[in-house]
Amino acid sequence: MTLVGMLDGKTAFVTGGGSGIGRATCIAFAREGAKVLVADLDGAEETATAIGGDAYAVTLDITDHVAVDAAVDGLVARWGRIDIAFNNAGINIENKRDHWDRLDLFDRTMEVNVRGMMICMIAELRHMAPARSGSIVNTASTAGFSGIAGPGYVASKHAVVGLTRSAALRYAEEGIRVNALCPGATFGGMMSKRHDPESLKVKARANPVNRIADPEELAEAVVFMASDRASYMTGHPMAVDGGFLAA
Ligand SMILES: NC(=O)c1ccc[n+]([C@@H]2O[C@H](COP(=O)([O-])OP(=O)(O)OC[C@H]3O[C@@H](n4cnc5c(N)ncnc54)[C@H](O)[C@@H]3O)[C@@H](O)[C@H]2O)c1
Repeated sequence: MTLVGMLDGKTAFVTGGGSGIGRATCIAFAREGAKVLVADLDGAEETATAIGGDAYAVTLDITDHVAVDAAVDGLVARWGRIDIAFNNAGINIENKRDHWDRLDLFDRTMEVNVRGMMICMIAELRHMAPARSGSIVNTASTAGFSGIAGPGYVASKHAVVGLTRSAALRYAEEGIRVNALCPGATFGGMMSKRHDPESLKVKARANPVNRIADPEELAEAVVFMASDRASYMTGHPMAVDGGFLAA
């Protein structure tokens, strides 16, 4: 029996691939046989180097539509097509209790988490639609369903779920699937930047499984949604949250 990877021969574009969930997913994509373009403001080169082989890096800001278009066009010029996009870059810059009057933080969060994601989807769908094939996974959050975070972050992640559903309906007949990953508390850049060890314990206790996820556990769900094994799944926001939303 020949073993094949779940993503053998596929090409993938990953934003936020320089850290946390994005980096773990780039590595899992490559393990499953995909060629990966790692995109990030920071850390993309390190991820691509860690993968080796066909992976390469682009340093970009997802709010810069010229840079995003150029990166996606470059991937297609190099590999012939874009099969998978993992739109994962995001920021969480608010304190949930204290930042209700900070329109500047709200605007910046919406600019990156929502407008930036839209910019990426436009660039990707421009190639996927004529090819009538593709799988997009957008990173939302449990904050796409609950209000436990700052206003901009909660609004932005609800919006990511909405964008995902809207794109899934619009492109279903064109053979393109669009789903969302809704992580619960997960170790990585964002979590370690925002929490000290004591507050991490409190966060862990808020989950029925009483622990915080490793980014690799999120990556496995993304591999599945991105792969042909999820061929009948579209428009779905999938929680990988240790039971947080079930509580
Ligand atoms: N870690 C968690 O607990 C958690 C929970 C729910 C949702 N999420 C979501 O998961 C995603 C990944 O988060 P993470 O925990 O791996 O955090 P992280 O900070 O490790 O990774 C986010 C990456 O996005 C990049 N990025 C930010 N703004 C960018 C921009 N404008 N252009 C390009 N890249 C940009 C950062 O440089 C960083 O490498 C985010 O969308 C986040 O909202 C995380």
